[in-house]
Amino acid sequence: MLFSSLSVFASIVATAAAQTISGQYDCLTAGNYQLCQNLWGEAAGVGSQNSTLISTSGNAISWSTNWTWANAPNSVKSYANVLSSSAKGVQLSAVTSAPTAWNWTYATQSSGIRADVSYDIWFGTAQSGSPATTASSYEIMIWLSGLGGIQPVGSQITTGTQVGGYSWNLWKGPNANWEVLSFVSASGDINNFNADLKDFFDYLTSEQGVASTQYVQAIQTGTEPFTGSANLIIDSFSVSIST
Ligand SMILES: *[C@@H]1O[C@H](CO)[C@@H](O)[C@H](O)[C@H]1NC(C)=O
Ligand SMILES: *[C@@H]1O[C@H](CO)[C@@H](O)[C@H](O)[C@H]1NC(C)=O
Ligand SMILES: *[C@@H]1O[C@H](CO)[C@@H](O)[C@H](O)[C@H]1NC(C)=O
Repeated sequence: MLFSSLSVFASIVATAAAQTISGQYDCLTAGNYQLCQNLWGEAAGVGSQNSTLISTSGNAISWSTNWTWANAPNSVKSYANVLSSSAKGVQLSAVTSAPTAWNWTYATQSSGIRADVSYDIWFGTAQSGSPATTASSYEIMIWLSGLGGIQPVGSQITTGTQVGGYSWNLWKGPNANWEVLSFVSASGDINNFNADLKDFFDYLTSEQGVASTQYVQAIQTGTEPFTGSANLIIDSFSVSIST
């Protein structure tokens, strides 16, 4: 019994060897997710970033990213993220639940880092559409952390709004051809987030004028660093949508 448990453990470890990506737009597919570096704003600053797939298990993924960025303190340097390949293509009116769980920690961080840890959820009028494209009508961000005085797009429109069991300050403003609505944690870092995204979708349709005919085109989660250095570890992230 002991020996067979040990050998099962050994084979899991062997198949879960960490893989690191370093290029500006490198990606790798892992379980139900695609992990991407997406160093889209790197030219604004000086530094580097690497992202590591730690493991997948069922619908959960574990990964980490190391970054060090200087200069242009108000410019996002990257959005290293995981994109769900299954939680998408559903009209808001058809969502019955969208459970998500995300626990994370900064294993190391320099003093005064400027960075968020955030969901980036994309809505549009067509069933499918890539994030941040002409197919995008809304970008819904959920900031579980925003350190160093950084701010989302637009201006703050609510304070202490309760959604999904947490308290948020909502920000709103335009970006390119879509509208950005950002829920920023009103009570500091949320390191162990458990929620039903349907609560956010319902709030957006009932209180913020988002049409329930909009489709969830993509759900990403990751981090937007501005300046400093850190090793962010996502111990476990999962999201799914039921209809
Ligand atoms: C990321 O940073 C941590 C903490 O400094 C370190 O242990 C790890 O080896 C780094 N990973 C990569 C891929 O550089
Ligand atoms: C990223 O990896 C490169 C080597 O591929 C290394 O030179 C650089 O220091 C790493 N950056 C961080 C922030 O760990
Ligand atoms: C993070 O969540 C996963 C999945 O629920 C759990 O197995 C793990 O123990 C959690 N890690 C921490 C540090 O709480």
